Amino acid sequence: MTTEDKATEHKATLSFSDGTPSVDFPMMKGTVGPDVIDIRKLYGATGKFTYDTGFLSTASCNSTVTYIDGDAGKLLYRGYPIEQLATHCDFLEVCYLLYYGELPNAPALEEFKDLVMHHTMVHEQMQFAIRGFRRDSHPMAILTGLVGGMAAFYPDSLDINSPEQQDISFVRLVAKMPTMVAMAYKYSIGQPYIYPVNRLGYASNFMHMMFATPCEDYEPNPVLVRAMDRIFTLHADHEQNASTSTVRLCGSSGTSPFSAIAAGVACLWGPAHGGANQACLEMLEQIQADGGMAKVGEFMEKVKDKHSASRLMGFGHRVYKNFDPRAKLMQETCKEVLAALGLENDPIFKLAMALEKIALEDPYFVERKLYPNVDFYSGIVQRALGIPTSMFTCIFALARTIGWVAQWKEMITDSEYRIGRPRQLYTGSVERDVPPRRGRS
Ligand code: SDX
Repeated sequence: MTTEDKATEHKATLSFSDGTPSVDFPMMKGTVGPDVIDIRKLYGATGKFTYDTGFLSTASCNSTVTYIDGDAGKLLYRGYPIEQLATHCDFLEVCYLLYYGELPNAPALEEFKDLVMHHTMVHEQMQFAIRGFRRDSHPMAILTGLVGGMAAFYPDSLDINSPEQQDISFVRLVAKMPTMVAMAYKYSIGQPYIYPVNRLGYASNFMHMMFATPCEDYEPNPVLVRAMDRIFTLHADHEQNASTSTVRLCGSSGTSPFSAIAAGVACLWGPAHGGANQACLEMLEQIQADGGMAKVGEFMEKVKDKHSASRLMGFGHRVYKNFDPRAKLMQETCKEVLAALGLENDPIFKLAMALEKIALEDPYFVERKLYPNVDFYSGIVQRALGIPTSMFTCIFALARTIGWVAQWKEMITDSEYRIGRPRQLYTGSVERDVPPRRGRS
């Protein structure tokens, strides 16, 4: 949709009490969601900027990929509800949908799966690049390096203006992320890498690379494979979150898709974002170690104390002011996996369920509309799948790669796109002269 397509007959009039003449701005309407005020001409018309740190009220782009209704707790990938996609589709089907915009028919899906599963190997030199890292490096630090390093290993797909090279970069990133994540894991535990097995499915191949060894056969439990695949789908995309916005801003300079996605990996690592699943499980394990349910009341008081840095990790969201639909699906997946493993009485899961119940009835959380988000249960189910805590955010990055690539592709093929360059409210020193060094205090 161009600006003209989105324009409405309505306008916003900005008037000032400082004598600046009032100015009208066009309003734009999307297919669903809040209308926007097009302020791109504001500075030229008034010499003023808007101020919106954290982008609480600012649309950075127009997008057709994903829509969240935070009040209703809805999440749509290309218009399809996440509940239906997580139930009726597999992750590669969702990757096809997010990148191409439509669900594939059966032949197209088979062809796409065959394409992806024949790009799973990484350049053999990558295993030498990884040796530069300490063995005890956090896997996200290694993954950031490997993804950025793809620009060195695949120089034939760096031209962002070539549709063919855009498509091959997309396939390479989706296909090779599982291999790189598994390599980061094997490197950190000192085990040999396991090469991809292309006849396996995407999630099954990933679990094979993570948990197989050269010494014995490894057959993943189909219930666990389905759970892994669903975890990928639940994390695939999420509008203009911090890491996706990072990918867009980084990619807007015209850099390679591998560099832009590496920037997204780096941003996702933060505990306020994708690192919350690791922080959430560590929080639950700490409460359990401190005394479990007997200590929940004391912990919740700390969380509500403005002077403490404690937060209920896995709770709260900038957009959802209702249940994160992914949290509900993740809880269901958690129950399925724990049942398949005979761990229905897992104390950490029971503690999480109890914490959720207490929080949802506590005025502090109710008043602030704080609900479980995707990270609240994802750590518990990943731990049950045998994924070590340090790898949780790598799994998130693996899954979110398709969302980052789809949004990057949308940006670079948008006729309105230009390099992102925010302005600022300057509150530093006015111009002053450099004093002689001798005279400085
Ligand atoms: C993800 O953006 C996305 O879409 C992200 C994501 C994706 O798929 O890409 O959904 C993935 O990042 C999920 C969020 C994972 N992070 C966490 O679970 C960390 C814990 N949650 C928070 O730190 C927080 O809720 C954020 C960062 C998620 C949202 O922060 P906001 O929107 O800036 O909200 P805020 O920090 O201004 O909080 C509003 C109020 C504050 O209290 P008051 O100052 O009004 O008294 O709610 C409180 C906060 O103190 N609050 C919490 C809380 N989250 C917010 N208090 C206790 N525990 C929490 N978790």
